[in-house]
Amino acid sequence: MYAHPSKAVPLLLAACIYSTSTFAETSTADSKDCTKEMCESQLSDDFLLKYKINVPSDTTLELCDKCTISMEAIYDGEAWLSIAVGTDGLMIGSEAVIGIPGGVPLKYDLSSKSVEGIVQMPDSAQTLTDASVEVIDGQTVMKFTKIMKEADEKEITTDANVFLWAHGTSDALGYHPGRSSFDLNLSSGSATEVSIPDMSAWLAHGIMAFLAWGVLVPFAVNSSLFRDLLPTRLPWFNLHRAFNSTAFALLVACFSVAVSYTAKEGAGHFKNSHQRMGLFMTTATVLQVLGGVFRPKLPIPDSGEERTMFRKVWERKHSLFGAALLACGFWEMNEGIQLFSIKYSVSENTESKVCIAYWVWIGIISATVILGVWYSKIRKKKPSDLKYVPPAVEGTDSGVVIPKMLADVEVDADGQE
Ligand code: HEM
Ligand code: HEM
Repeated sequence: MYAHPSKAVPLLLAACIYSTSTFAETSTADSKDCTKEMCESQLSDDFLLKYKINVPSDTTLELCDKCTISMEAIYDGEAWLSIAVGTDGLMIGSEAVIGIPGGVPLKYDLSSKSVEGIVQMPDSAQTLTDASVEVIDGQTVMKFTKIMKEADEKEITTDANVFLWAHGTSDALGYHPGRSSFDLNLSSGSATEVSIPDMSAWLAHGIMAFLAWGVLVPFAVNSSLFRDLLPTRLPWFNLHRAFNSTAFALLVACFSVAVSYTAKEGAGHFKNSHQRMGLFMTTATVLQVLGGVFRPKLPIPDSGEERTMFRKVWERKHSLFGAALLACGFWEMNEGIQLFSIKYSVSENTESKVCIAYWVWIGIISATVILGVWYSKIRKKKPSDLKYVPPAVEGTDSGVVIPKMLADVEVDADGQE
């Protein structure tokens, strides 16, 4: 299926990623009364959650005034572990209880996806009781009891709630190899994994990026390199401009989607290498496009004038800068695929298949560009170089009718732009 990457690659990428990132029901929806005994949710192969709602004798489950919840999180390994209360399944903005072996579970605000953003709540908010974290027979067990409705905090209700779980690799608080979000209905005991939101937006971002940098920009480069193999009526410059303008429009859309969804998710802008490279590429592409629009003019055809030094420097800079941007694009798309895979828990198998398809495609594209550079170097000035047909419009002597847009071309005797 991946042996013949073609223009269908973005669709394939979308289909593969979609097909493996739908979430399955994870929990044992048991028929226990979770106000009387511990209920259980197996959140992953190595992470188990037990919980019980404590209803004071002077209230009901419906009113649940001053109810508390006792939780027990068990991870098959020794590491920090956490249960958090959220709203949309995203880490940022959630409120966590984190247990680090050797300490006591405490409450934290998750304000960013870095260790600095995991902020311990003030002492006045540290209201957990019966809190402990221990390593027993190779398992880390965190226990605590939390008031379900606390001032200025996300409320835990007796119905549907969005929780998150995570565990690290050691006692040191850091990135988590295991994490997820889940809906837990405390009345019915049913739990389902919550799909991380905005998947279509990030997929659209990736597909637009791929169409721009994996297809259109390489085609634009090749239309210049293979210019004298093109049919006479298809001036290379028109192709070059059309491919690049469409790629630029897609890049603007791709960038806008990325920035607006990063803001919507409360995450910081331009923090990781993909985000920074994306900002650099967008800025550099704007400069490259402006450079193309305001390029130094060519001498008038047949005037015998030489190209100015300024024009020669511009041509060199334009192609080198374009090639460098294309290389950045190849790297950037690979990083993007990896970010997407982590964010939406795409299986390693699918991720590696998509990556193979991606690099096969990029390999083919790069080979054509390298061939084109070689071809454009060896091509000699021969009569066929002059095969550019001067723009004709209906009713002119040439009698050739070509679309008016094709007439809007600046060329020299060599057919070069
Ligand atoms: C030192 C602490 C932490 C660091 C450095 C960290 C870092 C990150 C990073 C880089 C991501 C994006 C990559 C990915 O999707 O895996 C992420 C996502 C996530 N984290 Fe954390 N995290 C920390 C603590 C926590 C805690 C305490 C929880 C809650 C129990 C949690 C739950 C999640 C969840 C559910 C996601 C996926 C949803 C999303 O993208 O917002 N993390 N984290
Ligand atoms: C050359 C092409 C690309 C450019 C210029 C680009 C640009 C960007 C930028 C600027 C951001 C961050 C916005 C901000 O910080 O406010 C971003 C984020 C992101 N991009 Fe791309 N991108 C490209 C390709 C891709 C591809 C192919 C994918 C694959 C689906 C992808 C997936 C993502 C994801 C998942 C994020 C969010 C990162 C996070 O949550 O940490 N990108 N991109």
